[in-house]
Amino acid sequence: MSSSGGDLGRALCVVTGASRGFGRAVAVDLSRLVRPGSVLVLVARSVDDLRALQAELARPEAGGTGLTVKCVEADLAQTDGVERAVKASEEAAAAAEIEHMVLVNNAASLGDVSRCAQSFTRMAEVDSYLSFNVSSALCLTARLLQAFPRRPGLRRTVVNVSSLCAVQPYPTWVLYCSGKAARDMMFRVLAEEEPDIRVLSYAPGPLDTAMQTEARSTTADPKMKQMISDLFAQGRLLSCEESSAKLMKLLLEDKFTSGSHVDIYDV
Ligand SMILES: NC(=O)c1ccc[n+]([C@@H]2O[C@H](COP(=O)([O-])OP(=O)(O)OC[C@H]3O[C@@H](n4cnc5c(N)ncnc54)[C@H](OP(=O)(O)O)[C@@H]3O)[C@@H](O)[C@H]2O)c1
Repeated sequence: MSSSGGDLGRALCVVTGASRGFGRAVAVDLSRLVRPGSVLVLVARSVDDLRALQAELARPEAGGTGLTVKCVEADLAQTDGVERAVKASEEAAAAAEIEHMVLVNNAASLGDVSRCAQSFTRMAEVDSYLSFNVSSALCLTARLLQAFPRRPGLRRTVVNVSSLCAVQPYPTWVLYCSGKAARDMMFRVLAEEEPDIRVLSYAPGPLDTAMQTEARSTTADPKMKQMISDLFAQGRLLSCEESSAKLMKLLLEDKFTSGSHVDIYDV
């Protein structure tokens, strides 16, 4: 099998927010697309959920033979959480002859969507949101790219899990929209700077996850709230598995323009 064909090669895959929702589905799919000798690093705060996924992937039916799965309990809102994720990735990959480094920056939070932009007067509150949702994604990416520098035979792919909110303003979603827009631009800059790195911002569509439930119950803007409630009531939410499959298709085909924002509905 060629590593540019039906699989991602012997890879180190780091997935943030792998304990539930979209990140979990992505981790499962990646485990099926890598070659024996690969390493999958699962990062989140809920280590029990990560361990449950690790156990699931170890079952023979999961087909992950020859795959090392490492759980990293880390709060990515904290500097030491980012460091822990990097250190664990370096240790896990040390003995493996990795030919592909895949980082999926998936972890994120919705922020307070119960208020308008003009109510955000406390810098500490805004900083705290941006620290986790923007800064940690850049710092984790930068640290991993340094830890796995350019060398012959090593492919490097960085995915930013984005949103329609990166390109579309939604009332009462100022933190989330700003964070997603900033992340998209960060990864566009990275793609400009490093042509050898494959960079993708993927908007996964409206997913049936905990974040979506939170959005349904806490969004203040009445039109936005109605739109989100309709998606749910009309059965128009997508499953994480369906959306992750589209992301895998993009990664396997490897034809996307590096740095681009690709929406699930474009795939
Ligand atoms: N749901 C949607 O409709 C939708 C639409 C467009 C884009 N997205 C994007 O898709 C991605 C996944 O969303 P989701 O719906 O699956 O969300 P979710 O169900 O809320 O899951 C979020 C994940 O992030 C992790 N996380 C949260 N805070 C963390 C922290 N401080 N440190 C480390 N990990 C943290 C959570 O794990 P722990 O709590 O265990 O730490 C969890 O695994 C996000 O980037 C989101 O913005 C979602």
